[in-house]
Amino acid sequence: MTDDVVYLDYAATSALRPEAVTEAVVRYLRDVGATPGRAGHRRAVEAGRIVLRCRRALAALFNIPGDPGRVTLHLNATHALNAALFGLLRPGDRVVRTEYDHNAVRRPVLALSQRGVQAVVIEGDAHGGISMFEVEHALKGARLLVIPHANNVIGNVLPVADLAERAHAAGALVLVDAAQSAGHLPVDVQRMGIDLLAFTGHKGLLGPQGTGGLWIREGIELPPTYFGGTGGDSDSPDMPALLPDRLEAGSMNGPGIAGLLAGVEWLLERGMDAVARHEYGLRTRLWNALDEIPGVRMHSPAGLDLAGIVTITIDGIDSSEAALRLDREFGVLVRAGQHCAPESHEILGTGATGALRFSIGWATTDAEIGRAAAAVRHLAETKAGARG
Ligand SMILES: Cc1ncc(COP(=O)(O)O)c(C=O)c1O
Repeated sequence: MTDDVVYLDYAATSALRPEAVTEAVVRYLRDVGATPGRAGHRRAVEAGRIVLRCRRALAALFNIPGDPGRVTLHLNATHALNAALFGLLRPGDRVVRTEYDHNAVRRPVLALSQRGVQAVVIEGDAHGGISMFEVEHALKGARLLVIPHANNVIGNVLPVADLAERAHAAGALVLVDAAQSAGHLPVDVQRMGIDLLAFTGHKGLLGPQGTGGLWIREGIELPPTYFGGTGGDSDSPDMPALLPDRLEAGSMNGPGIAGLLAGVEWLLERGMDAVARHEYGLRTRLWNALDEIPGVRMHSPAGLDLAGIVTITIDGIDSSEAALRLDREFGVLVRAGQHCAPESHEILGTGATGALRFSIGWATTDAEIGRAAAAVRHLAETKAGARG
């Protein structure tokens, strides 16, 4: 589809990608085609090289020290988070999470708590804050703190380094869900004190769907949670002892990984600070433009340290209907509903109604922000007119 739309749903997926990403996928399918690690012939070897380059590029982006083989590749952030949570936690362990979590954390933690893991949930607030007192109290005796770097509804960024320091002081590991921050904001595992980093490929990292991964700090033993062929150690009934093979059962998504590599290289070339500045500037402009419109309720806060997400409701219009009209009448593509994060909507008071989420990405322009705001104004005004 090459229609004239304003795409503002990057928090779901970066549907617009640099041309280099598409070219890399096509090149892989046309010129490589084989599966990494599944043969010794030249095509499989070339596939393996691309996968290694991708691990290295991700390590560079996240300032990961040491062996890039500790960056394991999975289908998405959800699989990576499940691998970490089910691999680490045993009955009797205590895990601390927050109300800012996506269902990709909330649901596996609930499933684990039904198997004897003790789960503590830290409350959030409408400004995206968190009580450090509550966190410290909850962390006593905990094995793991799991936090989103950026929330996908409010757009707040959690103070990861500060939280990690407190978690480590309590003897807990820190798992960060970077699905909404990787490729949008700088992520530095060393500076932020992260022990395990889960990320997705199809959002800020600009790769295709079916890509994502998990980094596991040196010294942490993460047992596999799914089992199968890895292309090596075939005579052993057990999964290989070493990463990445230990956690990567089954044939890999070669074309997807080639695209992810191109996306990460694009980000490295542009520089994460520049990407974040671009998106933050447009986020502020969008927030201000929507805030001026009578009948629009702002649900995500203004201010510093926010991801490129603005969530609103429009008085008198159901959010799903508003999203449909924005698409049909104005070509503005956004996402309505609960965004797989019902607790965040409870915090905002939009649990029953859902809300409209605008999310910004690498290709968003100033003109598009203007067009989206004008479309919302039209909806809000015509609705007010119809009521009056
Ligand atoms: C904060 C957060 N975590 C996890 C996920 C899940 O990502 P994936 O679709 O790659 O599994 C999302 C996706 O929306 C998200 O926003």
